[in-house]
Amino acid sequence: AGAVPFHGEHQAGITTPAQDRLHFVAFDVITKDRARLVALLQEWTAAAARMTAGRDAGLIGAVNGMPEAPPDDTGEALGLPPAQLTLTIGFGPMLFRDAQGRDRFGIADRRPPALADLPHFAGDALRPEISAGDICVQACANDPQVAVHAIRNLARIGMGVVSVRWSQLGFGRTSSTSRGQATPRNLFGFKDGTANLKAEDTGLLRDHLWAHPGDGPDWMTGGSYLVSRKIRMLIETWDRTPLAEQEQIVGRSKGAGAPLGKGDEFDEPDFAAKGEGGEPVIAETSHVRLAHPSQNNGARLLRRGYNFVDGSDGLGRLDAGLFFIAYQRDPRKQFVPIQTGLSRNDAMNEYLRHVSSALFACPPGVRDAADFWGRALF
Ligand code: HEM
Repeated sequence: AGAVPFHGEHQAGITTPAQDRLHFVAFDVITKDRARLVALLQEWTAAAARMTAGRDAGLIGAVNGMPEAPPDDTGEALGLPPAQLTLTIGFGPMLFRDAQGRDRFGIADRRPPALADLPHFAGDALRPEISAGDICVQACANDPQVAVHAIRNLARIGMGVVSVRWSQLGFGRTSSTSRGQATPRNLFGFKDGTANLKAEDTGLLRDHLWAHPGDGPDWMTGGSYLVSRKIRMLIETWDRTPLAEQEQIVGRSKGAGAPLGKGDEFDEPDFAAKGEGGEPVIAETSHVRLAHPSQNNGARLLRRGYNFVDGSDGLGRLDAGLFFIAYQRDPRKQFVPIQTGLSRNDAMNEYLRHVSSALFACPPGVRDAADFWGRALF
């Protein structure tokens, strides 16, 4: 009845067919006490298992407890279905060694080499207060209230151990992660997710999505690395750009989403094709050419981003864009080279500003009721 299994080999919320709504949160750990952090991860895991099944965060629930005590669930999801809620946790680089170089929790030697700080990219306009974080939780659901309820209750349970560093709401998935889903559109009006890694591509997922034994520390085997980028889209400027230019910037048609020169969305792009004047049919600076595996040593990503509109910016413009999320086996070989190429040459850059960035190691799935988020790490 609308519930996604919480337990499994991999965490839910990665290859799960992308839900329509997002609430993403990054926490700072504010305790120095390792035991308190581990106890919180255990308590969070139990709450996550309950909430993803459509139940209250705590055992007693929103309205059955003692009248003298605050309830162990906040109540706003009472009566709502699970709405395909998934909760996916990740651990950031600073959990292993903080900005002062301290190994707060005795886990510095377990930091995966693939969890290497991202380099600065051309054009980055990152705001530190909405970037990075010690722990992230990605809540996705088909009801925004269910996603917000889950994050709110995790933050409530974590009081005194973690504090919310930043959080982001998203609407309208900008990717398909399953062949059963129609490709949605982003705020530029283009289909987004056509050439994404999909749940059915099990061979590609093995090679490009999941960490293997020997890739790094054992606790990450079966996990995946998450890169988030909050990308402001200058939609008012985009909206004054002619259709043909928009299509050249993307490299696909706006209607069908087909590669330029082809008719069907799922046709393969032909980057060698030339027009009558000898110019490439798909421009050298187009987004899909530069992001394509053929330009990036075969690298692929599982993209799982969401649109956002955070009100307006006081200058007569919507504060809108794409909260980009991508999962991968090794960001050093996937996100970093792809974004390096895009940041230098992508014609879309004129309409984009990357304002936040974060990187997290998402461990494998929670196996059963005795297992918990991060057990193998601690
Ligand atoms: C493809 C839009 C940022 C990586 C696409 C497509 C669109 C699009 C419309 C074509 C449809 C598809 O295959 O999904 C955007 C917008 C962005 C953005 C509006 C920013 C707001 C990024 C970033 C990366 C990225 C930051 C990674 C560093 C890719 C990849 C593909 C793709 C790998 C598939 C290319 C292929 O194999 O054909 N994007 N994108 N995109 N994008 Fe983006």
